[in-house]
Amino acid sequence: MTNTPPPTDAASHRAKPESHPARPYFSSGPCAKPPGWSPEKLDTRILGRSHRSGLGKERLKLCINLMREMLQLPDSHRIGIVPGSDTGAFEMAMWTMLGAKPVTCLAWESFGEGWVTDAVKQLKLDPTIVRAEYGDLPDLNQVDWSNDVLFTWNGTTSGVRVPNGDWIPVDREGLSFADATSAVFAYDLPWDKIDVATFSWQKALGGEGGHGVLILGPRAVERLESYTPDRPLPKIFRLTKSGKLIEGIFTGETINTPSMLAVEDAIWTLEWAKSVGGLRGMIARTAANAAALDRIVEGRNWLGHLAQDPASRSKTSACLTVDGADADFIKRFAKLLEAEGAAYDIAGYRDAPPGLRIWCGATVDTADIEGLGPWLDWAWEQCQ
Ligand SMILES: Cc1ncc(COP(=O)(O)O)c(C=O)c1O
Repeated sequence: MTNTPPPTDAASHRAKPESHPARPYFSSGPCAKPPGWSPEKLDTRILGRSHRSGLGKERLKLCINLMREMLQLPDSHRIGIVPGSDTGAFEMAMWTMLGAKPVTCLAWESFGEGWVTDAVKQLKLDPTIVRAEYGDLPDLNQVDWSNDVLFTWNGTTSGVRVPNGDWIPVDREGLSFADATSAVFAYDLPWDKIDVATFSWQKALGGEGGHGVLILGPRAVERLESYTPDRPLPKIFRLTKSGKLIEGIFTGETINTPSMLAVEDAIWTLEWAKSVGGLRGMIARTAANAAALDRIVEGRNWLGHLAQDPASRSKTSACLTVDGADADFIKRFAKLLEAEGAAYDIAGYRDAPPGLRIWCGATVDTADIEGLGPWLDWAWEQCQ
């Protein structure tokens, strides 16, 4: 690999690359639509009709069944569509289940911190908080599993993920709550280690926001049916009725009115996911994208990974350091590439250290990641 040092004088400025990534969509949410997607391809028969009609329930059920199939979810786990995107799904789980046991929150980036804030300030739970700086993971082996444990499987704003589920004991006493929104469809998830998982279609499926997906293992259902928290619950958080799980939520009888357009969009993408080899194909596409980006980083001495340990480096939300860059530099850099139509939305998250963030999930094509390299070089030189 060759390094590309910054130019020493104006004459060495390189020419603008001639070709653009075909689909310069690298946002970490909402993420790129799958290749071949267009709104005309969506099945619109249900639009303008009730989601509780026969057809509405059929489409919602199909969406649920496709997600189950694509995630290789075991029969032990329920999966349902809920309001409020990933945030709605995760907070619904927190509000309905926490308080029965002591709570541990793990946080190593902005979204994990968000769940800490909820636990401390809203739910007033006095959790044990285990933190790490951006780029690192806390020591997962220190986690006390007599507690309920909240964590983010893939930290979208730092590019750090948990490497696997080995640190979660099968015989845990507490429940594991995984915010898996940037992890599903990108990694093999050990469902026997996960009691609660949440995600939104807007990430790895390149779908729409607005709806969350809630996955409950049997021990989470047991908690819901045996524990009633002493706090008011808005209707859109209620998962039980008379002490029993509302099973309808997990068969397509949504709590309130969903966007059937968003549901149809998710169905289209799940069918696409099937066509590229299902979960295995999605994981392989993600890995190829992350490897292509790694090659770009390795070839440039001014780029690095924020995630220190390759074993816990995200393969979806890759966060990159840029030598000497401050927030202003990153803003100019990203704006320049946006104006050229070469890369959209690649500035790092506002709370993260200044840097770049490039989504490598399955809906992005590897050729487009590869095509980004020369543009990054060009923008780097332009911004000096
Ligand atoms: C790890 C994580 N959790 C939660 C969220 C919030 O997701 P949503 O806007 O779908 O509620 C995001 C969004 O980027 C995220 O990356």
